[in-house]
Amino acid sequence: MLDATTAVFTPTNQNSVVKPYILSHGTLECRSLRDSRKFYEEFLGLECVRHAQQAMHARCGIKFSIVCVEVGDKVRPMSVLNHWGLEVDTHEAVDFAYESAVKMKETYKIGEITKPSNRHGIYSFYLSDLDGNYWEIEYYDGSVHEDAFDFGDRFDNEGAAK
Ligand SMILES: [Fe+2]
Repeated sequence: MLDATTAVFTPTNQNSVVKPYILSHGTLECRSLRDSRKFYEEFLGLECVRHAQQAMHARCGIKFSIVCVEVGDKVRPMSVLNHWGLEVDTHEAVDFAYESAVKMKETYKIGEITKPSNRHGIYSFYLSDLDGNYWEIEYYDGSVHEDAFDFGDRFDNEGAAK
């Protein structure tokens, strides 16, 4: 399990053009802030704050947020490869989330729900929400983030295994 108290580090980007000290947010589109906020808070467990008429921040566990922008019917559905990941602390919590998603599909206008499966030690499933955005609910025994960055590049720039 990722220890959120150690989620801050000093970046080694002295040689880049931009020298940010933190990656602060991403964005996504929604049809209705009111409806999406309900889903984010009641189902996904995200904390939301509507800081603008057309936008709100959503966060969980660390000081990184997704800025959700209301675009009405101009909302563009994503593919499963454009998804946001939420970590839960047990295998059972993934199963519970999956069963709940199936049960609450109509209530929250959930679209596709994939079956939970194991990939590279990650146990997870995906769902597309009322706006066509994908969420992955996952469990990993450890921290995916720390393991990936601690290990470093496994493949070179051409995609060949090192
Ligand atoms: Fe993922």
